Amino acid sequence: MLSSKRILLIIGGGIAAYKSLDLIRRLRERGAAVTPVLTRAAEEFVTPLSVSALAGEKVYRDLFDLTDEAEMGHIQLSRSADLVVVAPATADLMGKMAGGLANDLASTLLMATDTPVLCAPAMNVRMWEHPATQRNFSQLEADGVRFVGPNEGDMACGEYGPGRMSEPLEIVASIEAQFSAGPLTGKRILVTSGPTYEPIDPVRYIANRSSGAQGTAVARALAALGAEVIFVTGPADVSPPERVNVVQVETAQQMSDAVDAALPVDAGVFAAAVADWRVSSASDKKLKKSRDGLPALEFAENPDILKRIAHMEDGRPLLVVGFAAETDNVIEHATAKRARKGCDWIVANDVSPATGIMGGSENAVIVISEEGAEEWPRMGKDEVAKRLAVKIAGALTK
Ligand code: CTP
Repeated sequence: MLSSKRILLIIGGGIAAYKSLDLIRRLRERGAAVTPVLTRAAEEFVTPLSVSALAGEKVYRDLFDLTDEAEMGHIQLSRSADLVVVAPATADLMGKMAGGLANDLASTLLMATDTPVLCAPAMNVRMWEHPATQRNFSQLEADGVRFVGPNEGDMACGEYGPGRMSEPLEIVASIEAQFSAGPLTGKRILVTSGPTYEPIDPVRYIANRSSGAQGTAVARALAALGAEVIFVTGPADVSPPERVNVVQVETAQQMSDAVDAALPVDAGVFAAAVADWRVSSASDKKLKKSRDGLPALEFAENPDILKRIAHMEDGRPLLVVGFAAETDNVIEHATAKRARKGCDWIVANDVSPATGIMGGSENAVIVISEEGAEEWPRMGKDEVAKRLAVKIAGALTK
């Protein structure tokens, strides 16, 4: 299963480092080659000799080891693997990764790598639950780092709770899962996201409150299932996900052009909050206050991207998914919108201020399709995205 795969295994300094010796053995049994890297602190828990004996390879320990630089520079070392595994991922290592620090070999490799990274956290329960660790964890997830564990249970320090490193065989299973093709492998999917900005003059624009959080989460979830994602985004608050093709736009017209350039696709998910109108009289000079009174803005209708793509006669994506932000009669309005736009599914949500959904981290959606309305319980936007990605995979692969 793992034959011909090369794993760069970074062992952090925690008591769970002893389990990494078994991890090396299990990986080698399955045919993987393991290049081990030890942090200074890790050497307090396991010896370089035992690690290298089990791995059957040289152990890398020091950034400034010139022999290593002559043999293989740290950049090359960081990229020579198919997967980087950090086990145990200590609070310190996670903090360095989230903060972008590179002051030793392990953290430098993690900054320099362009290979997927899988972390197996291990630390005391209080350290795991500390807001700083939780912040780092969220940041790393947003950066595309994958995680296995931590598990809950008795800890070496005598406490109980989440923080135990996953068992070697669980880590192996997660490593194998990273290499198995997801259900959307080979599918090309377009996602629009974020607001659009419609200029009034060179310094002013009309915008809306979309943060881009839901569209970004959908793009990330689709990529995690193996899809090739083209992510066309307006100026969003959240950063675009890793491992997707990002096309940054500002106006609805630019978004429409970028969508055309992305075709053909197997599916299109239109999560952007596109401005319905633009200022047709936008000035190329800054508007000045005038004695003649207030400026009058003339509007023109923007292209309805979703409607246009859903009505394509040639090359229409197999699945077209729209979003509907409503404030009342959600099902009724969204059902009518689905018919009007001609899309296959509408993901509708209630964005009345009382729900806290617009700009918040949670969403409560109703997916309207030919089969009717499917109400999902309120959950995190990431969870909504994962569930939607699985539903899309089901529709594209049936
Ligand atoms: N949409 C689009 N292009 C536009 C406007 C909207 O692609 N110019 C897409 C959005 O990405 C979303 C869906 O259409 O998937 C819903 O948009 P919305 O603006 O809410 O629908 P409208 O038809 O404008 O209806 P209303 O404003 O009356 O709610």
